Amino acid sequence: MRTFKANLSSVVLLMTMFVWAAPSKGATEIPIDGMALYQTHCAACHEGKVPRAPHLITFSMIGAEAILSAMNEGVMRSQASVLSVSERAALADFLAGEAGEMPKPVLACTEPMTALAENDNAAMKGWGGDDQNYRHASDELVGLNSDNIAQLSLKWVFAYPGALRARSQPLVHDGIIFVGSQSGDIYALDLESGCAHWTYSAGAEVRSSLSLGYIPGRPDPVLYMGDFSATVHAVDAADGSLVWRAPVGDHVDTTITGSPKLHDGVLYVPLSSSEWATAADPGYACCTFQGGVVAVDAASGELRWRSHVIDAPAVETGKTNPFGAPRKGPAGAPVWNSPSIDAKRGVLYVGTGEAYTSPAANTSDAVLAFSLETGQRQWARQLLAGDAWNMACFIGEAANCPEEDGPDLDIGAATILWSGADRDYLLVGQKSGDVYALDPDNGGAVLWHNKLGRGGFTGGVHWGMTANSESLFVPIADTTVIGKFKGEQFPGVHALNPASGERKWYTPSEDDCEGKPKPACDRGMSAAATSTDGLVFAGSFDGNLNVYDSVTGEVLWNFDTFGEFESVSGDTALGGSIESDGPVLYKGHVLVNSGYQFGGRMPGNALMVFSLPPADSLAKGQNSE
Ligand code: HEC
Repeated sequence: MRTFKANLSSVVLLMTMFVWAAPSKGATEIPIDGMALYQTHCAACHEGKVPRAPHLITFSMIGAEAILSAMNEGVMRSQASVLSVSERAALADFLAGEAGEMPKPVLACTEPMTALAENDNAAMKGWGGDDQNYRHASDELVGLNSDNIAQLSLKWVFAYPGALRARSQPLVHDGIIFVGSQSGDIYALDLESGCAHWTYSAGAEVRSSLSLGYIPGRPDPVLYMGDFSATVHAVDAADGSLVWRAPVGDHVDTTITGSPKLHDGVLYVPLSSSEWATAADPGYACCTFQGGVVAVDAASGELRWRSHVIDAPAVETGKTNPFGAPRKGPAGAPVWNSPSIDAKRGVLYVGTGEAYTSPAANTSDAVLAFSLETGQRQWARQLLAGDAWNMACFIGEAANCPEEDGPDLDIGAATILWSGADRDYLLVGQKSGDVYALDPDNGGAVLWHNKLGRGGFTGGVHWGMTANSESLFVPIADTTVIGKFKGEQFPGVHALNPASGERKWYTPSEDDCEGKPKPACDRGMSAAATSTDGLVFAGSFDGNLNVYDSVTGEVLWNFDTFGEFESVSGDTALGGSIESDGPVLYKGHVLVNSGYQFGGRMPGNALMVFSLPPADSLAKGQNSE
């Protein structure tokens, strides 16, 4: 498959053009005045006042369907709750304008999928790659190293239809890629050609990585995933048919962002919520979400246990906000990272986010250990006290903004249970830019601490660190986009000694935003990183995927994923920011998602697959001089 890179300026133009053309057209055609609805219900936040809210320009690229789904079951549910069905439809059409061309259908495979091998020891398991979340792949199985990495080249690009962000980390098993999407469709793609063997519709956005396991008595492997409406799905990997489906939320705003972890027949599912956004509604009785983790039987979907981050359910405080809505609490502390599993001690570990109400619960911005068996909390180690924040803090009439007003420095990255020569270390990265090693044998006592970056809403450490047997590799974002955080910035990749926290090297990321939209473009590195023994793979907001030498930090290979690419279906795939999920390595291949319309980043819908040249072409000497 030949791919091309379009003139970058045309993409930038595309991103800045639609604004004015789209609205007037929609407004004249639709009897309900979309512009008026937008001005009354949306513009206050979306016209630049709330830094994370997409601007009008982005709406034209999101498409009516995604806008509607944000209002119906997504993060804007509360903001749109006063609108009727036809008003929502009119508003979505108005905002989308004409820009949303119908995407081409995915390329269907012509050959049936061969039976999936039971064991594929080259496959990285889910988000963390293994139980401990090393996000590591062995040199031997992956076959990528400093000698051959220069030969890595783009093999094909898949365009997620109707998506403007790509953040479900792919899982590869026996030559098939399984991946979720913004539209809620799960695809089984052939690693060689990018054709789709089957599609399963989850019904709501799938942000998490898939996991693969077996149910006794079933010959084919089963895939597990969580969606935006907090439903867990188990799907037959051979044909995409539903095995079971289980709603796991106990709050109307519950969502699944972090990837469920499959271990020993049980799926451990982290629970976060969109109540942080609902809180921006001045009439909302804020807030009641309790954060948590649930354990679900992987064979049946039955709930084994449910544990909360904040134990006591929220109650009315007897106070009201300035708009007369009752204040409730304590609330918040979502879990949006994939648990690490400590089979030896019988526990799992998760990091928690900020509190939504004041005073902040003492389990916010903390690391918690839960019993694998019962869900009982074994210990909690709070790393930042008094951090209460929600979306109301972004806007003027901040009815539900807690008095602390942030700083919103979650522990969003998955914890890594790292085993050294003589002891285990629980490695933790925070949005503040702090990295910690906690003692799993001593209630999470701090063994060492090192502050690597200035921190911010998107980190410091945002989505994930990676480790091999020698080093911990930490991507730092330190973005400029929200000005509240002060101090020197250290974006790039940092390598630490996991036993002492001492820094081994730091390779700053270089600015590559020329010709790309700012401030969406930024050199910060927020997406999760991945490592082998000799290499580190990490992407940045500006779309660059870098490969570093794990010992020296030297950049050995680089690819800019920003811009237009021809997809396997003949469609245009748009690359943008690399954010959230990280590179996946599999037998001479590197997979990365590009494009992230969320949090003000560069949109896109590309899954890019890179590979080494086939072994036979090397054998024929095509690549030797
Ligand atoms: C109180 C502020 C506020 C109001 C009012 C508001 N929004 Fe938003 N909206 C946001 C923020 C902030 C985000 C981005 C969320 C994030 O990045 O986490 C967002 C995101 C979105 C998105 C993208 C959702 C996604 O999943 O990517 C859409 C679509 C959207 N808003 C539509 C609307 C519409 C339509 C209205 C009016 C009915 C509206 N918003 C009113 C603050 C607001």
